[in-house]
Amino acid sequence: MAKTPKDDSRYEDLNIVLKETQKCSGILKNLLNSIKVQPLTITQTNVRSFVKETVQLLEKKFEEKKLVLNLSMPQDPPEASMDFLRLRQVIINVLLNSIQSTPEGGKVDFTVGLSEADGKKELNFTVEDNGEGMPKEYVDKVFEPFFSMRKQGTGLGLFTSRLITEAHGGSISFESEVKKGSKCVIKIPV
Ligand SMILES: Nc1ncnc2c1ncn2[C@@H]1O[C@H](COP(=O)(O)OP(=O)(O)O)[C@@H](O)[C@H]1O
Ligand SMILES: [Mg+2]
Repeated sequence: MAKTPKDDSRYEDLNIVLKETQKCSGILKNLLNSIKVQPLTITQTNVRSFVKETVQLLEKKFEEKKLVLNLSMPQDPPEASMDFLRLRQVIINVLLNSIQSTPEGGKVDFTVGLSEADGKKELNFTVEDNGEGMPKEYVDKVFEPFFSMRKQGTGLGLFTSRLITEAHGGSISFESEVKKGSKCVIKIPV
């Protein structure tokens, strides 16, 4: 559109396409913001097996891209009440983002830990990569539906991850710096 001169015969048509597309995107965003996550199926979950199985699902992708995955987790974490399939989806989304954003030979640190804040116990999943990162002005947008800076991206990965995490009473945060890397922390009360 920006490249088409105003006196080009296609300009008007392009303008209509652009306006209608923006309208559709606005409608979809409103719709997505109003939907709620399906009720969770909570079970007592063994955190170590949960993490190991989740990481195994992505092993090939790490190998293909020659990325090192440093996994660290407590020896004997307590069982946690969670919808493990949904939470697995969240962790896969976040790990996949790091895989996609980190050039060959890079590394991803996946650290699982327990912490206590105001007498409340939390399980933390931290995914930190040393990949391309992203400019500061976009960092606040990553949880918005359809925000994507990838050619093939849907921009729904972090949006749905936030919905699922919050449905667990938890939180998700994202920090990033260009050419340094990114860090995503998922916190779930246990
Ligand atoms: N680890 C990361 N490193 C750099 N950028 C990231 C990372 N994770 C997410 N992003 C940015 O946030 C955007 C939104 O992520 P996401 O919601 O998963 O959508 P998608 O992966 O489909 O683009 C990505 O397009 C990318 O620009
Ligand atoms: Mg993604």
